[in-house]
Parts: sequence; C-alpha cells; structure tokens
Amino acid sequence: MHDDFILFSGTANPHLAARMAQLLERPLGACTVERFPDGEVNVHLDEPVRGRDVYLLQSVCPPVDEHLMELLCLADACRRASVANLTAVVPYFGYARSDKRNGRRAPVTASMVALMMQAVGIRHVLTVDLHAQQVEGFFHIPVDCVTAVPVLCHALRNQLAHDTVVVSPDEGRVKMASEYARLLGLPVAVLHKHRESGTQSKVTHVVGDVRDRPCLIIDDIISTGGTIAEAVAVLLKAGARPEISVAATHGLFVGDARARLNHPAIRTILVTDTIPFIQQDWPEVRVLPLAALLAAAIGRFRAGESIGDLFTHVIHDGRGDEAFGAGVHQ
Ligand code: R5P
Repeated sequence: MHDDFILFSGTANPHLAARMAQLLERPLGACTVERFPDGEVNVHLDEPVRGRDVYLLQSVCPPVDEHLMELLCLADACRRASVANLTAVVPYFGYARSDKRNGRRAPVTASMVALMMQAVGIRHVLTVDLHAQQVEGFFHIPVDCVTAVPVLCHALRNQLAHDTVVVSPDEGRVKMASEYARLLGLPVAVLHKHRESGTQSKVTHVVGDVRDRPCLIIDDIISTGGTIAEAVAVLLKAGARPEISVAATHGLFVGDARARLNHPAIRTILVTDTIPFIQQDWPEVRVLPLAALLAAAIGRFRAGESIGDLFTHVIHDGRGDEAFGAGVHQ
C-alpha cells in the first residue's frame, strides 16, 4: 500500500526536520514561510495536500510567538486546502508552563494555545515531555506525549559514578527524576523550591542523602538556568561532591543562562534537539537528536500501532538514529 503522507516543517527545527524526512524516506513537503515587510507571517504550501495526511513539525521555541503563528498559519493553509488528517508535531510545546491562572485577571495561555491549534484544523498532537500533563486536558483531540528520558539516560549511563544521586530540582519533577533513577539504578533526592518570580527561585530544603556524592540534576526545561544554578548552590552547601551533571529535555538557554550555568562543579549538560542549540563554544553542553524517536512515533501512527512500548526500544548509541529505522519504513 502506498503510504501517502507529507511532512512539512516551519522554521523552528530545520535540522530535526531534515533528519526526520531522511528517516521517513521522503522529501520534506515544499512550503514557503516568510515575513511581510511589517513582520506579519506569510506562508504558502507549494504542493497539494488535498486528501493527504499531513504532519506539521514546529517547536514553539524562541521567537515563541513567531513560531506559534507559523504553525497556526501552516495548519490553516492545510485545512483550507482540504487536508485529510493534520497532525502537529510539536517537540517543544511553548506556553505549557502557563497551565493555570497566575492570580485573578490572568489568562490560562496553554489552554488558549490548545484552542487555537484545534481551531485551525489540527486533529492530533505529538509532543515531547510536556511540562504538565494537564495541558493534554485542554485539547479535545488526541495528544501523544513521548519522553526523551530513555534517550538521555542511555547517553548518561557510562558517564556517571556509581554513587551518583538523581536530584529533582522541585516537587514538580519528582516523577521524572524517579524515571531517571529507575533507568539508571540510582537513588533520588528532591529539592523543595519556592519560585519568587519568572526568573528567581529559592530552594528551602534538600530531601535525601547527597553528602559526598556526585549529583545528576534533571529537569524538563532549562530556560534562564536559575533553577539549575540554585540547585547546584544548594547541593554543594549540603555537602555534595563538586561533580554535577545536568540533564533536561528542552534547552532554551535564554537570558543569562550561560553565565548562570558557568560553574566549575557542572561537568556536563545534556539536552535534546527539541530546540535548536545555537550557543557557540560551550563544550559542557551535549545535544542529543530526537529525530529517530519522533519518526518512529509517526511510523507507528501510520501502521496503526501503539506507541506505548516505543520508549522501551529507545536506544541512542552515538551512531545516529538508526536504531529506529526499521520501525519507520513503510
Ligand atoms: C519549572 O517548573 C520547570 O520545570 C523548570 O524548572 C523551569 O522552567 C526552568 O526555568 P529556569 O531555567 O528559568 O529556572
């Protein structure tokens, strides 16, 4: 059977898009994404989509609103050109942290983004390590969230000392930290964090034994680096060995992140390519590719298979993403 689908991409993840197209063994869908002189987004699909299934790749990463608008415009173009089924592949779901009202007279922006995505004809969302599971509840369409944790753990496995402790930087990441700990066979410690503003947070307690031990601090997102920097300071004060590794799915690295994370105790920072890494000359940062994971998920959607056990097959061995190849071919 000819498996008739097209993968289009906005401008957020060009390398990821190219690698996914390669793994899915088809050229990227032809489209034009440009700006009008006043800055408005102008998109055009340069090939027909009538009656076709379309996967639209776009992370909602900085510049966040521009990338979001591109996604919405491309989706609307697909809808008006009679696409059969439209899936948004959103490796980094921006605004997911705005999942509740921050006081009275405030919006729930994640819910608004979900409504806009559905309004332009998106009928399925594939994303990675969504900040909060309740964001799925803002949608009335299927949302499949895959996790990058096994990919990150595979890369970390031979790098960590046997007495390392996995550290959750706040109560919200305990479940994720436990998954790292399970996959790596390590214990967990938890920091109790109080967020003072969008850029400032303060840790009040360390729960768990970190004295004289190296630590692996995990998180879903590194944005300004404030959370990790505070965690490093608190762990060292609590007697942890100055051998700290950091792993997070989404590396935004905005503002002063680099300066904040420039600490001699931080040996390595692992992130994935859900967000392009554009900082030059930062040898501690390693970026793991997720094209294989996302392409494999699409392959399973095409075959009508579950993605529930996709994670148990996640192997990233530094030779590229070939581990998923067989599951992707149609
Ligand atoms: C917060 O709940 C998230 O899980 C991250 O800890 C947070 O977004 C990281 O932001 P920053 O790097 O600015 O501290």
